[in-house]
Amino acid sequence: MTTLHRRAFLGLTGAAGAGLAAAIAGFSAAPAWADPALVDEPFTLGVASGDPLPDGVVLWTRLAPDPLAVDGSGGMPPQVVEVNWQVAEDERFSEVVRAGAARATPELGHSVHVEVTGLRPDREYFYRFRVGRYLSPVGRTRTAPAYGADPRQLAFAFVSCQNLPAGHFTAYRHLAEEDLDLVLHLGDYIYEGPGTSAIGRPHLPATEIFSLADYRIRHAQYKTDPDLQLAHARFPWAVTWDDHEVENNYADGTSEDAKQSEESFLLRRAQAYQVYYEHMPLRRASIPQGPDMRLYRRLSYGNLAQFDILDGRQYRSDQVPTGMDDPSRTMLGTAQEQWLLDGLSASRARWNVLGNQTVMTEADRDPGPGKQLGNDNWNGYAAARQRLFDGVVERGVQNMVVVTGDAHCSMVSDLKQNFDDQSSRTVGVEFLGTSITSGGNGAEMDTRGREWLASNPHMRFYNGRRGYVRCLLDHDRFRTDYRVVPYVTEPGAPVSTRASFVVENGRPGVQIDAA
Ligand SMILES: [Fe+2]
Repeated sequence: MTTLHRRAFLGLTGAAGAGLAAAIAGFSAAPAWADPALVDEPFTLGVASGDPLPDGVVLWTRLAPDPLAVDGSGGMPPQVVEVNWQVAEDERFSEVVRAGAARATPELGHSVHVEVTGLRPDREYFYRFRVGRYLSPVGRTRTAPAYGADPRQLAFAFVSCQNLPAGHFTAYRHLAEEDLDLVLHLGDYIYEGPGTSAIGRPHLPATEIFSLADYRIRHAQYKTDPDLQLAHARFPWAVTWDDHEVENNYADGTSEDAKQSEESFLLRRAQAYQVYYEHMPLRRASIPQGPDMRLYRRLSYGNLAQFDILDGRQYRSDQVPTGMDDPSRTMLGTAQEQWLLDGLSASRARWNVLGNQTVMTEADRDPGPGKQLGNDNWNGYAAARQRLFDGVVERGVQNMVVVTGDAHCSMVSDLKQNFDDQSSRTVGVEFLGTSITSGGNGAEMDTRGREWLASNPHMRFYNGRRGYVRCLLDHDRFRTDYRVVPYVTEPGAPVSTRASFVVENGRPGVQIDAA
Protein backbone atom coordinates (compact mmCIF):
# COMPACT_ATOMS: atom_id res chain seq x y z
CA MET A 1 0.00 0.00 0.00
CA THR A 2 2.80 2.36 0.91
CA THR A 3 4.62 1.78 -2.38
CA LEU A 4 1.43 2.45 -4.28
CA HIS A 5 0.89 5.62 -2.27
CA ARG A 6 4.34 6.90 -3.00
CA ARG A 7 4.09 6.17 -6.70
CA ALA A 8 0.68 7.81 -6.98
CA PHE A 9 1.91 10.78 -5.02
CA LEU A 10 5.19 11.28 -6.83
CA GLY A 11 3.40 11.05 -10.13
CA LEU A 12 1.41 14.08 -9.08
CA THR A 13 3.95 16.12 -7.21
CA GLY A 14 7.44 14.91 -8.04
CA ALA A 15 9.03 18.33 -8.12
CA ALA A 16 7.36 19.70 -4.99
CA GLY A 17 8.13 16.49 -3.13
CA ALA A 18 11.81 16.70 -4.01
CA GLY A 19 11.97 20.31 -2.84
CA LEU A 20 10.48 19.39 0.50
CA ALA A 21 12.87 16.47 0.93
CA ALA A 22 15.86 18.75 0.24
CA ALA A 23 14.64 21.37 2.67
CA ILE A 24 14.08 18.74 5.29
CA ALA A 25 17.54 17.29 4.85
CA GLY A 26 18.92 20.73 5.68
CA PHE A 27 20.40 21.27 2.24
CA SER A 28 18.24 24.20 1.25
CA ALA A 29 20.48 26.15 -1.11
CA ALA A 30 19.61 29.53 0.33
CA PRO A 31 21.87 30.94 3.05
CA ALA A 32 20.20 31.47 6.40
CA TRP A 33 19.17 35.00 7.13
CA ALA A 34 20.67 35.52 10.55
CA ASP A 35 19.25 38.93 11.33
CA PRO A 36 16.06 39.39 9.38
CA ALA A 37 14.50 42.80 9.57
CA LEU A 38 11.12 41.44 10.65
CA VAL A 39 8.72 44.29 11.19
CA ASP A 40 6.41 42.39 13.51
CA GLU A 41 6.49 39.96 16.40
CA PRO A 42 7.10 36.50 14.83
CA PHE A 43 6.22 34.35 17.90
CA THR A 44 2.44 34.72 17.60
CA LEU A 45 1.87 30.94 17.72
CA GLY A 46 3.62 30.37 21.01
CA VAL A 47 6.12 27.67 21.84
CA ALA A 48 5.85 23.97 22.58
CA SER A 49 7.91 20.96 23.58
CA GLY A 50 7.30 17.28 23.11
CA ASP A 51 8.28 13.62 23.10
CA PRO A 52 10.57 13.69 26.16
CA LEU A 53 13.50 11.29 26.39
CA PRO A 54 15.74 10.87 29.45
CA ASP A 55 18.35 13.14 27.84
CA GLY A 56 16.31 15.52 25.76
CA VAL A 57 13.11 16.86 24.32
CA VAL A 58 11.82 18.45 21.10
CA LEU A 59 11.39 22.22 21.10
CA TRP A 60 8.95 23.79 18.67
CA THR A 61 7.88 27.13 17.34
CA ARG A 62 6.80 28.59 14.01
CA LEU A 63 7.59 32.10 12.81
CA ALA A 64 4.38 33.85 11.81
CA PRO A 65 4.26 37.65 12.16
CA ASP A 66 0.93 37.56 10.28
CA PRO A 67 -0.40 34.15 11.27
CA LEU A 68 -3.60 34.26 9.20
CA ALA A 69 -2.03 35.62 5.98
CA VAL A 70 -4.19 34.30 3.15
CA ASP A 71 -1.26 32.72 1.30
CA GLY A 72 -0.42 30.53 4.31
CA SER A 73 3.04 32.08 4.65
CA GLY A 74 2.36 33.38 8.13
CA GLY A 75 3.59 36.71 6.84
CA MET A 76 7.16 35.44 6.41
CA PRO A 77 9.30 36.26 3.37
CA PRO A 78 10.38 33.22 1.30
CA GLN A 79 13.80 33.04 2.91
CA VAL A 80 15.54 30.66 5.28
CA VAL A 81 15.77 32.30 8.70
CA GLU A 82 18.13 31.43 11.51
CA VAL A 83 16.45 30.98 14.89
CA ASN A 84 18.47 30.85 18.09
CA TRP A 85 17.32 28.72 20.99
CA GLN A 86 18.32 28.27 24.62
CA VAL A 87 17.57 25.74 27.34
CA ALA A 88 18.11 26.72 30.96
CA GLU A 89 17.62 25.28 34.40
CA ASP A 90 15.88 28.40 35.59
CA GLU A 91 13.12 30.60 34.26
CA ARG A 92 15.41 33.66 34.15
CA PHE A 93 17.98 31.85 31.98
CA SER A 94 20.87 32.54 34.30
CA GLU A 95 21.89 28.86 34.02
CA VAL A 96 21.78 28.15 30.27
CA VAL A 97 22.75 24.51 29.72
CA ARG A 98 22.21 24.09 25.98
CA ALA A 99 21.93 26.57 23.11
CA GLY A 100 22.11 26.57 19.34
CA ALA A 101 20.74 27.81 16.07
CA ALA A 102 18.09 26.19 13.88
CA ARG A 103 16.92 27.00 10.36
CA ALA A 104 13.32 27.92 9.69
CA THR A 105 12.65 27.18 6.03
CA PRO A 106 9.79 28.39 3.84
CA GLU A 107 9.36 24.79 2.62
CA LEU A 108 8.25 23.82 6.13
CA GLY A 109 6.27 26.99 6.82
CA HIS A 110 9.11 28.51 8.89
CA SER A 111 8.50 25.97 11.59
CA VAL A 112 11.33 25.13 13.98
CA HIS A 113 11.95 21.66 15.44
CA VAL A 114 14.97 21.35 17.72
CA GLU A 115 15.89 17.94 19.13
CA VAL A 116 17.79 18.93 22.24
CA THR A 117 20.13 16.32 23.73
CA GLY A 118 22.52 16.25 26.66
CA LEU A 119 19.93 17.10 29.30
CA ARG A 120 19.58 15.34 32.62
CA PRO A 121 16.75 12.84 33.22
CA ASP A 122 13.57 13.63 35.13
CA ARG A 123 14.25 17.34 35.36
CA GLU A 124 12.43 20.55 34.70
CA TYR A 125 13.90 22.92 32.06
CA PHE A 126 12.97 26.24 30.51
CA TYR A 127 13.43 27.18 26.85
CA ARG A 128 13.02 30.11 24.49
CA PHE A 129 13.80 31.20 20.93
CA ARG A 130 15.17 34.41 19.43
CA VAL A 131 15.02 35.91 15.96
CA GLY A 132 16.74 39.25 15.50
CA ARG A 133 15.44 41.48 18.28
CA TYR A 134 12.43 39.30 19.04
CA LEU A 135 12.38 36.88 21.98
CA SER A 136 9.75 34.16 22.24
CA PRO A 137 7.67 33.45 25.32
CA VAL A 138 9.39 31.09 27.76
CA GLY A 139 8.30 27.47 27.76
CA ARG A 140 8.71 24.97 30.54
CA THR A 141 9.35 21.31 29.90
CA ARG A 142 10.50 18.13 31.59
CA THR A 143 12.70 15.22 30.55
CA ALA A 144 11.69 11.60 31.10
CA PRO A 145 13.27 9.54 33.88
CA ALA A 146 16.32 7.43 32.96
CA TYR A 147 15.74 4.01 31.41
CA GLY A 148 15.50 1.53 34.24
CA ALA A 149 14.92 4.28 36.83
CA ASP A 150 12.31 3.74 39.49
CA PRO A 151 10.24 6.95 39.64
CA ARG A 152 7.88 7.08 42.58
CA GLN A 153 5.03 8.63 40.61
CA LEU A 154 4.02 10.18 37.33
CA ALA A 155 1.28 12.66 36.47
CA PHE A 156 -0.09 13.15 33.00
CA ALA A 157 -3.29 14.33 31.35
CA PHE A 158 -4.93 13.37 28.09
CA VAL A 159 -7.08 15.50 25.80
CA SER A 160 -8.74 15.38 22.39
CA CYS A 161 -11.19 17.07 20.04
CA GLN A 162 -10.77 20.83 20.17
CA ASN A 163 -13.26 22.18 17.66
CA LEU A 164 -12.53 25.92 17.80
CA PRO A 165 -15.92 27.24 16.54
CA ALA A 166 -17.74 25.02 19.07
CA GLY A 167 -16.34 26.59 22.21
CA HIS A 168 -13.65 28.25 24.26
CA PHE A 169 -10.57 26.25 25.23
CA THR A 170 -11.17 26.98 28.93
CA ALA A 171 -10.25 23.41 29.84
CA TYR A 172 -6.68 24.16 28.71
CA ARG A 173 -6.48 27.15 31.04
CA HIS A 174 -7.27 24.81 33.94
CA LEU A 175 -5.03 22.05 32.62
CA ALA A 176 -2.13 24.54 32.57
CA GLU A 177 -2.52 24.93 36.32
CA GLU A 178 -2.07 21.22 36.99
CA ASP A 179 1.27 19.72 37.98
CA LEU A 180 1.98 17.33 35.09
CA ASP A 181 4.93 15.52 33.56
CA LEU A 182 3.27 15.08 30.17
CA VAL A 183 0.15 15.82 28.12
CA LEU A 184 -1.15 13.35 25.53
CA HIS A 185 -3.23 14.69 22.66
CA LEU A 186 -5.24 11.87 21.09
CA GLY A 187 -6.49 13.56 17.96
CA ASP A 188 -8.78 16.11 16.35
CA TYR A 189 -6.32 18.88 17.10
CA ILE A 190 -7.98 20.87 14.31
CA TYR A 191 -11.21 20.37 12.40
CA GLU A 192 -11.23 20.67 8.63
CA GLY A 193 -14.79 21.95 8.25
CA PRO A 194 -16.15 25.35 7.20
CA GLY A 195 -16.41 28.60 9.14
CA THR A 196 -19.79 28.63 10.86
CA SER A 197 -19.77 29.29 14.59
CA ALA A 198 -22.66 30.02 16.93
CA ILE A 199 -20.35 31.76 19.41
CA GLY A 200 -18.35 34.10 17.20
CA ARG A 201 -15.28 31.91 16.73
CA PRO A 202 -15.56 31.10 13.02
CA HIS A 203 -12.96 28.97 11.31
CA LEU A 204 -10.42 30.47 8.94
CA PRO A 205 -10.35 30.04 6.06
CA ALA A 206 -14.16 30.14 6.12
CA THR A 207 -14.53 27.03 3.94
CA GLU A 208 -13.51 23.39 4.25
CA ILE A 209 -9.73 23.18 3.91
CA PHE A 210 -7.91 21.31 1.13
CA SER A 211 -4.63 23.03 0.21
CA LEU A 212 -1.30 23.45 1.96
CA ALA A 213 -2.08 27.14 2.55
CA ASP A 214 -5.54 26.28 3.92
CA TYR A 215 -4.17 23.79 6.45
CA ARG A 216 -1.43 26.25 7.51
CA ILE A 217 -3.93 29.02 8.15
CA ARG A 218 -6.21 26.66 10.08
CA HIS A 219 -3.42 25.31 12.29
CA ALA A 220 -2.14 28.85 12.85
CA GLN A 221 -5.61 29.98 13.86
CA TYR A 222 -5.85 27.24 16.48
CA LYS A 223 -2.35 27.98 17.74
CA THR A 224 -3.24 31.64 18.32
CA ASP A 225 -5.68 30.59 21.06
CA PRO A 226 -4.14 31.83 24.34
CA ASP A 227 -5.40 28.92 26.45
CA LEU A 228 -3.94 26.36 24.05
CA GLN A 229 -0.65 28.29 23.97
CA LEU A 230 -0.54 28.29 27.75
CA ALA A 231 -1.00 24.52 27.97
CA HIS A 232 1.73 23.92 25.37
CA ALA A 233 4.17 26.29 27.09
CA ARG A 234 3.66 24.61 30.45
CA PHE A 235 4.27 20.87 29.70
CA PRO A 236 5.80 18.61 27.07
CA TRP A 237 3.14 17.02 24.87
CA ALA A 238 3.03 13.77 22.93
CA VAL A 239 0.56 14.12 20.09
CA THR A 240 -1.20 11.82 17.70
CA TRP A 241 -3.95 12.49 15.19
CA ASP A 242 -7.39 11.15 14.42
CA ASP A 243 -9.40 11.91 11.29
CA HIS A 244 -10.15 15.65 11.39
CA GLU A 245 -6.51 16.64 10.97
CA VAL A 246 -7.17 15.58 7.35
CA GLU A 247 -10.83 14.76 6.68
CA ASN A 248 -13.76 13.29 8.63
CA ASN A 249 -13.69 9.47 8.80
CA TYR A 250 -10.97 8.94 6.20
CA ALA A 251 -9.31 5.53 6.20
CA ASP A 252 -5.76 5.15 4.85
CA GLY A 253 -5.99 6.32 1.23
CA THR A 254 -9.78 6.42 1.11
CA SER A 255 -11.73 9.64 1.41
CA GLU A 256 -15.16 9.85 2.97
CA ASP A 257 -16.21 11.32 -0.37
CA ALA A 258 -16.73 8.35 -2.69
CA LYS A 259 -16.24 10.59 -5.71
CA GLN A 260 -12.68 11.42 -4.70
CA SER A 261 -9.96 9.23 -6.25
CA GLU A 262 -7.21 7.74 -4.09
CA GLU A 263 -4.66 9.89 -5.94
CA SER A 264 -6.40 13.16 -5.23
CA PHE A 265 -7.16 12.19 -1.63
CA LEU A 266 -3.52 11.25 -1.03
CA LEU A 267 -2.44 14.63 -2.33
CA ARG A 268 -4.72 16.25 0.23
CA ARG A 269 -3.46 13.88 2.93
CA ALA A 270 0.16 14.70 2.09
CA GLN A 271 -0.49 18.40 2.57
CA ALA A 272 -2.46 17.89 5.77
CA TYR A 273 0.24 15.59 7.21
CA GLN A 274 3.00 18.03 6.30
CA VAL A 275 1.22 20.93 7.98
CA TYR A 276 0.49 18.77 11.02
CA TYR A 277 4.22 18.02 11.27
CA GLU A 278 4.99 21.72 10.88
CA HIS A 279 2.81 22.61 13.87
CA MET A 280 3.68 19.86 16.33
CA PRO A 281 6.73 19.21 18.56
CA LEU A 282 7.67 16.01 16.71
CA ARG A 283 11.00 14.35 16.02
CA ARG A 284 12.69 14.02 12.61
CA ALA A 285 11.43 10.44 12.43
CA SER A 286 7.98 11.96 11.75
CA ILE A 287 9.02 14.13 8.79
CA PRO A 288 6.49 13.22 6.11
CA GLN A 289 7.54 11.27 3.02
CA GLY A 290 4.99 12.22 0.41
CA PRO A 291 1.60 11.11 1.76
CA ASP A 292 3.15 8.91 4.48
CA MET A 293 4.22 9.98 7.94
CA ARG A 294 5.44 7.81 10.79
CA LEU A 295 3.57 8.90 13.89
CA TYR A 296 3.25 5.77 16.04
CA ARG A 297 6.03 5.62 18.60
CA ARG A 298 6.91 4.66 22.15
CA LEU A 299 7.80 6.78 25.18
CA SER A 300 9.20 5.36 28.37
CA TYR A 301 9.03 6.68 31.96
CA GLY A 302 11.51 4.41 33.75
CA ASN A 303 9.94 1.22 35.02
CA LEU A 304 6.70 3.00 35.88
CA ALA A 305 5.02 3.56 32.53
CA GLN A 306 5.38 2.82 28.85
CA PHE A 307 3.34 4.89 26.41
CA ASP A 308 2.53 3.35 23.05
CA ILE A 309 1.23 6.23 20.96
CA LEU A 310 -0.91 4.74 18.20
CA ASP A 311 -1.93 5.83 14.70
CA GLY A 312 -5.35 4.38 13.99
CA ARG A 313 -6.00 6.30 10.76
CA GLN A 314 -3.12 6.00 8.33
CA TYR A 315 -3.15 2.22 7.86
CA ARG A 316 -6.73 1.16 8.60
CA SER A 317 -9.08 -0.76 6.35
CA ASP A 318 -11.97 1.28 5.01
CA GLN A 319 -15.13 1.39 7.13
CA VAL A 320 -17.81 -1.14 6.17
CA PRO A 321 -21.52 -1.37 7.03
CA THR A 322 -21.43 -5.16 7.51
CA GLY A 323 -18.75 -7.80 7.90
CA MET A 324 -16.96 -5.67 10.49
CA ASP A 325 -15.41 -8.77 12.07
CA ASP A 326 -13.73 -9.93 8.84
CA PRO A 327 -10.26 -11.08 9.99
CA SER A 328 -8.57 -9.44 7.00
CA ARG A 329 -9.58 -6.02 8.33
CA THR A 330 -6.99 -3.97 10.18
CA MET A 331 -7.03 -0.90 12.42
CA LEU A 332 -3.29 -0.36 12.84
CA GLY A 333 -1.87 -2.09 9.77
CA THR A 334 0.28 -5.22 9.98
CA ALA A 335 3.55 -3.50 10.87
CA GLN A 336 2.14 -1.32 13.66
CA GLU A 337 0.09 -4.20 15.07
CA GLN A 338 3.22 -6.34 15.34
CA TRP A 339 5.24 -3.41 16.75
CA LEU A 340 2.60 -2.89 19.43
CA LEU A 341 2.40 -6.51 20.54
CA ASP A 342 6.19 -6.88 20.52
CA GLY A 343 6.56 -3.69 22.53
CA LEU A 344 3.95 -4.78 25.06
CA SER A 345 5.68 -8.17 25.42
CA ALA A 346 9.07 -6.55 25.99
CA SER A 347 7.75 -3.89 28.37
CA ARG A 348 9.16 -3.89 31.88
CA ALA A 349 6.91 -1.04 32.93
CA ARG A 350 4.30 -1.33 35.66
CA TRP A 351 1.66 0.42 33.50
CA ASN A 352 1.29 -0.09 29.77
CA VAL A 353 -0.58 2.91 28.44
CA LEU A 354 -1.97 2.92 24.89
CA GLY A 355 -2.59 6.38 23.42
CA ASN A 356 -5.50 5.45 21.20
CA GLN A 357 -7.81 7.32 18.82
CA THR A 358 -11.25 5.72 18.75
CA VAL A 359 -13.42 3.73 21.19
CA MET A 360 -11.94 0.30 21.81
CA THR A 361 -14.47 -1.32 24.15
CA GLU A 362 -17.60 -2.92 22.76
CA ALA A 363 -20.09 -0.05 22.65
CA ASP A 364 -23.49 -1.46 21.75
CA ARG A 365 -26.42 0.95 21.54
CA ASP A 366 -29.13 -1.70 21.30
CA PRO A 367 -30.39 -2.70 24.78
CA GLY A 368 -32.08 -5.75 23.22
CA PRO A 369 -30.47 -8.97 21.98
CA GLY A 370 -29.18 -7.38 18.76
CA LYS A 371 -26.13 -5.17 18.48
CA GLN A 372 -25.86 -1.67 17.11
CA LEU A 373 -22.17 -0.82 16.84
CA GLY A 374 -20.26 2.09 15.36
CA ASN A 375 -18.09 1.24 12.36
CA ASP A 376 -15.53 4.07 12.59
CA ASN A 377 -14.01 2.84 15.90
CA TRP A 378 -12.58 -0.52 17.04
CA ASN A 379 -16.11 -1.99 16.98
CA GLY A 380 -15.83 -1.84 13.19
CA TYR A 381 -12.54 -3.74 13.39
CA ALA A 382 -13.54 -6.47 15.84
CA ALA A 383 -11.08 -9.10 14.56
CA ALA A 384 -8.17 -6.67 14.90
CA ARG A 385 -9.29 -5.90 18.45
CA GLN A 386 -9.50 -9.62 19.20
CA ARG A 387 -5.96 -10.17 17.86
CA LEU A 388 -4.74 -7.43 20.22
CA PHE A 389 -6.61 -8.79 23.24
CA ASP A 390 -5.59 -12.42 22.57
CA GLY A 391 -2.00 -11.27 22.08
CA VAL A 392 -2.07 -9.42 25.39
CA VAL A 393 -3.31 -12.57 27.16
CA GLU A 394 -0.92 -14.97 25.38
CA ARG A 395 2.07 -12.75 26.12
CA GLY A 396 1.11 -12.15 29.73
CA VAL A 397 0.91 -8.38 29.39
CA GLN A 398 -0.12 -6.84 32.72
CA ASN A 399 -1.79 -3.57 33.60
CA MET A 400 -2.83 -2.37 30.15
CA VAL A 401 -4.62 0.97 30.26
CA VAL A 402 -6.06 2.35 27.03
CA VAL A 403 -6.69 6.09 26.89
CA THR A 404 -8.94 7.24 24.07
CA GLY A 405 -10.44 10.33 22.45
CA ASP A 406 -12.83 10.90 19.53
CA ALA A 407 -16.23 10.26 21.10
CA HIS A 408 -16.75 13.65 22.82
CA CYS A 409 -17.79 12.10 26.12
CA SER A 410 -16.26 10.60 29.22
CA MET A 411 -16.62 6.85 29.58
CA VAL A 412 -14.90 4.12 31.57
CA SER A 413 -14.95 0.45 30.63
CA ASP A 414 -13.35 -2.85 31.42
CA LEU A 415 -11.95 -4.51 28.31
CA LYS A 416 -13.17 -8.12 28.14
CA GLN A 417 -11.43 -10.81 26.14
CA ASN A 418 -14.93 -11.90 25.11
CA PHE A 419 -17.55 -9.16 25.43
CA ASP A 420 -20.32 -11.74 25.02
CA ASP A 421 -19.12 -13.50 28.18
CA GLN A 422 -18.77 -11.09 31.08
CA SER A 423 -17.03 -13.83 33.08
CA SER A 424 -14.22 -13.86 30.53
CA ARG A 425 -10.85 -12.36 31.32
CA THR A 426 -10.46 -8.59 31.75
CA VAL A 427 -7.47 -7.72 29.55
CA GLY A 428 -7.29 -4.05 30.46
CA VAL A 429 -9.21 -0.88 31.14
CA GLU A 430 -10.29 1.88 28.78
CA PHE A 431 -10.53 5.49 29.92
CA LEU A 432 -12.32 7.53 27.30
CA GLY A 433 -11.65 11.24 27.62
CA THR A 434 -14.18 13.85 26.56
CA SER A 435 -13.59 16.68 24.11
CA ILE A 436 -12.06 20.06 24.89
CA THR A 437 -14.97 21.73 23.04
CA SER A 438 -16.38 19.50 20.27
CA GLY A 439 -20.13 19.08 20.55
CA GLY A 440 -20.58 22.35 22.49
CA ASN A 441 -21.62 22.48 26.14
CA GLY A 442 -22.80 18.88 26.38
CA ALA A 443 -24.89 17.51 29.25
CA GLU A 444 -24.44 15.26 32.25
CA MET A 445 -26.23 12.43 30.44
CA ASP A 446 -27.58 11.96 26.93
CA THR A 447 -29.27 9.33 24.75
CA ARG A 448 -26.08 7.60 23.74
CA GLY A 449 -24.93 7.42 27.37
CA ARG A 450 -28.18 5.85 28.52
CA GLU A 451 -28.07 3.32 25.67
CA TRP A 452 -24.43 2.46 26.28
CA LEU A 453 -24.86 1.96 30.03
CA ALA A 454 -27.99 -0.15 29.48
CA SER A 455 -26.39 -2.36 26.82
CA ASN A 456 -22.79 -2.88 27.97
CA PRO A 457 -22.30 -4.34 31.47
CA HIS A 458 -18.52 -3.80 31.16
CA MET A 459 -19.07 -0.01 31.05
CA ARG A 460 -18.88 1.69 34.42
CA PHE A 461 -19.35 5.42 33.81
CA TYR A 462 -20.57 7.95 31.29
CA ASN A 463 -20.68 11.74 31.28
CA GLY A 464 -21.35 14.20 28.49
CA ARG A 465 -19.47 17.31 29.72
CA ARG A 466 -16.25 18.79 28.26
CA GLY A 467 -12.81 18.73 29.83
CA TYR A 468 -9.73 16.57 30.23
CA VAL A 469 -8.56 13.56 32.22
CA ARG A 470 -5.79 13.76 34.80
CA CYS A 471 -3.91 10.55 35.61
CA LEU A 472 -1.72 9.95 38.64
CA LEU A 473 0.34 6.75 38.63
CA ASP A 474 2.49 5.03 41.17
CA HIS A 475 3.55 1.40 41.46
CA ASP A 476 0.35 0.40 43.23
CA ARG A 477 -2.38 2.44 41.56
CA PHE A 478 -3.38 4.14 38.32
CA ARG A 479 -5.77 6.89 39.33
CA THR A 480 -7.84 9.00 36.92
CA ASP A 481 -9.75 12.19 37.68
CA TYR A 482 -12.34 13.32 35.14
CA ARG A 483 -11.97 17.11 35.14
CA VAL A 484 -15.00 18.77 33.56
CA VAL A 485 -16.26 22.27 32.82
CA PRO A 486 -20.01 23.07 32.89
CA TYR A 487 -19.95 25.09 29.64
CA VAL A 488 -17.67 26.10 26.76
CA THR A 489 -19.86 28.53 24.78
CA GLU A 490 -18.84 31.32 27.18
CA PRO A 491 -15.32 31.83 28.48
CA GLY A 492 -14.35 31.51 32.14
CA ALA A 493 -16.02 28.25 33.19
CA PRO A 494 -14.79 26.70 36.46
CA VAL A 495 -13.40 23.17 36.54
CA SER A 496 -14.31 20.35 38.89
CA THR A 497 -13.58 16.65 39.30
CA ARG A 498 -16.71 14.84 38.16
CA ALA A 499 -15.55 11.30 39.01
CA SER A 500 -12.40 9.39 39.94
CA PHE A 501 -11.34 5.83 39.23
CA VAL A 502 -8.54 3.54 40.24
CA VAL A 503 -6.90 0.54 38.67
CA GLU A 504 -4.86 -1.46 41.16
CA ASN A 505 -1.64 -3.17 40.17
CA GLY A 506 -2.28 -6.82 39.30
CA ARG A 507 -6.03 -6.55 39.78
CA PRO A 508 -7.62 -6.29 36.32
CA GLY A 509 -10.57 -3.93 36.00
CA VAL A 510 -11.54 -0.50 37.20
CA GLN A 511 -12.62 0.49 40.71
CA ILE A 512 -14.69 3.57 41.45
CA ASP A 513 -12.67 5.71 43.82
CA ALA A 514 -14.73 6.57 46.85
CA ALA A 515 -12.12 9.00 48.18
FE1 LIG B 1 -13.63 14.80 17.45
